[in-house]
Amino acid sequence: MSATLALLGGTPVRTRPFPAHNPIGEEEKKAVLEVLDSGILSRFLGAWHRDFYGGDRVQAFERTWAGLVGAKHAVSFNSNTSGLFAAVGAAGVGPGDEVLVPPYTMSASATVVIGYHAVPVFADIEPDIFCVDPRSLRERITPRTKALVVVDLFGHPADLDPIMALAREHGLVVIEDAAQAPGAVYHGRRVGTISDMTVFSLNYHKHIHTGEGGIVTTGNDRYAERLQLIRNHGEAVVADRGITDLVNAFGFNLRMTEIPAAIGITQLSKLPHLLERRVKNAEYLSKHVGVLPGIAPPTVRPGCTHVYYVQPFLFDAAVVGVSRERFVEAVCAELPTAEDRDWPMMSSGYVTPLYLQPMYQQQIAIGASGCPFRCPHYQGTVDYRKGRCPVTEQIEERRLIATEFMRPPATTDDMRDVVRAFEKVYEHRRELVEPRGGAS
Ligand SMILES: Cc1ncc(COP(=O)(O)O)c(C=O)c1O
Repeated sequence: MSATLALLGGTPVRTRPFPAHNPIGEEEKKAVLEVLDSGILSRFLGAWHRDFYGGDRVQAFERTWAGLVGAKHAVSFNSNTSGLFAAVGAAGVGPGDEVLVPPYTMSASATVVIGYHAVPVFADIEPDIFCVDPRSLRERITPRTKALVVVDLFGHPADLDPIMALAREHGLVVIEDAAQAPGAVYHGRRVGTISDMTVFSLNYHKHIHTGEGGIVTTGNDRYAERLQLIRNHGEAVVADRGITDLVNAFGFNLRMTEIPAAIGITQLSKLPHLLERRVKNAEYLSKHVGVLPGIAPPTVRPGCTHVYYVQPFLFDAAVVGVSRERFVEAVCAELPTAEDRDWPMMSSGYVTPLYLQPMYQQQIAIGASGCPFRCPHYQGTVDYRKGRCPVTEQIEERRLIATEFMRPPATTDDMRDVVRAFEKVYEHRRELVEPRGGAS
């Protein structure tokens, strides 16, 4: 190993790119060709007809997903965002309502609330697991709160038992954004069987994918029906179907087509094996990187599993003696990225806390007059000031390192290079300290 850090002109630990994350193979090709041969690329009809539920593959995919998760219903969508949007609609959310959401997540977890002219209210996260903190949720409930969107961030389930108890106490609907957590387990139960509606993503970056796609599981017949209406032009269906409650029963075209559904069926059969590899890699890194003083591995709640969409480490600059940004820069210089991407495999922080985005700061979303934040329907006052969720801000601004080295088909050998890079930078970290003492 070169004694000089790559960032300072030395030889990097590794130059060979990490393997592309590509779970698509011959099985998917065959499945796609069968759909193409059939000529039926989608069979949805936006009318009350048996094709209201989509084609054979869409329905088979939903049955397979529901079976694997152990849920009564699974309703597919063209994305997780669409699934979340439909779930917020199915929950009956409307103008003047508030929906509690964590700020540490992909933006869609909150934007879907605005889609129903309701107001996202942000609750802070747990400092070790990074999912929403049930205590913060409790503090932020008001008479206007209608639902919660909780996120299984990075692949670790949110603390669902206290969250569900709180929701039942206040009559709130719980929508779980499990975009990053297929196959995760919470106290012996599979994610997808616990909250009122659980939404999974099948976009290209996820553990398994169909290019774009999403699927919602629920044990509730009414929610399943509402999800189907919102997915597929409900307003044109309600009369023939005898539905008289019209609240949020209108819809869009959020439908999955036959090719992604066919791919999804084969992808699902690969999920256990892909998760096993991913978890093994992540655990290796946790064990070997997480022993470096000042770099803590991810916490896994007892009785739960983490499926590591992202593997987060907590960095303590005071202990390491160099800034997080400088340390990350130095490790990235030691390692190439992967064949399928042109951005690094690790970063300082994850996302800007959502309330600090321009849409929330300026309170401009729908139209120019501040709807939904300053709508006549809304009787509350939004608070998106900096400092609103101090744990989130501290984690994002100073502590979190997000890594993705563990993606299959990377092996333990690949992880050894990652560990060597961390160890090398750690050993030479004093050379990184900026002239005016950059550790902060
Ligand atoms: C937590 C979370 N929510 C929502 C989404 C949106 O998913 P999709 O791209 O399938 O709409 C993502 C995607 O990265 C996500 O990670």
